[in-house]
Amino acid sequence: MTEKTFRDNLFEVASPSDIPLAKFNEAMRRETFAGIRGIVTPAECEAGLHALAQRFKRSDDHPGIGEKPEMVRQNFQKLLVGGESRARRNDDARLFRQFYNPMWAEDIYGLRDVFIRLARVRNRIAGLAPDFATTGIEANGLWTAARVHQYPLGGGFFRGHTDYVASDVADEADTKFYQLFLVMTEKGRHFQKGGGFVDVGSTRINLEDHFRQGDILVYDGRTNHGVEDIDPHLPFDVDTFNGRVAAFVTLYKVM
Ligand SMILES: [Fe+2]
Repeated sequence: MTEKTFRDNLFEVASPSDIPLAKFNEAMRRETFAGIRGIVTPAECEAGLHALAQRFKRSDDHPGIGEKPEMVRQNFQKLLVGGESRARRNDDARLFRQFYNPMWAEDIYGLRDVFIRLARVRNRIAGLAPDFATTGIEANGLWTAARVHQYPLGGGFFRGHTDYVASDVADEADTKFYQLFLVMTEKGRHFQKGGGFVDVGSTRINLEDHFRQGDILVYDGRTNHGVEDIDPHLPFDVDTFNGRVAAFVTLYKVM
């Protein structure tokens, strides 16, 4: 990615309402990704990482599949492994941990305020009310699946994929496909190789080669994206919280 492309796709703002939507959507249509800087500080990310590492216990890991839907509507940790046997259901091969931390659950990582700001950025981009799903479950069943994903050193990854989008929203605005995450770790410091990528045409862009800790990255779920192996040259340690970390505020629906 050229320096000009990077600059054109980086939006430095003080609050979600300052995101210039017309320019932002133009950047998304042009490159299919953009970065938002200034909403979350690197120090806030460091504090979150510290709390996650302190609290982490391998024995809290649940299996990668099979939990009841309501299980993730509370603080809940799971290790996602494999996926080949479920590949036809859009479950692409993966190795990472999820730490669900809904807005109404105990704020065990001190990240609640960060999650609320991420949700407000999501709402701004999607044209939703500023506080949509920032506290509870909305009347239409939507809630914010506030959570952290940890891709361990020694091979954490997520095979390239496109996000499944229900047919009932497929004909709506482009912004419905826009996904975002917070870059909580820094490539070159927390890990050396791999990281989140998007394929723009035939060009693979490793996002964390360019964006830094505290940046919010937005991508188009219709493009191929994933996470390349995190430091595959290192041993995998299932007992330690390490590697690449990102935070998400995806809208889930209570069925
Ligand atoms: Fe995805």
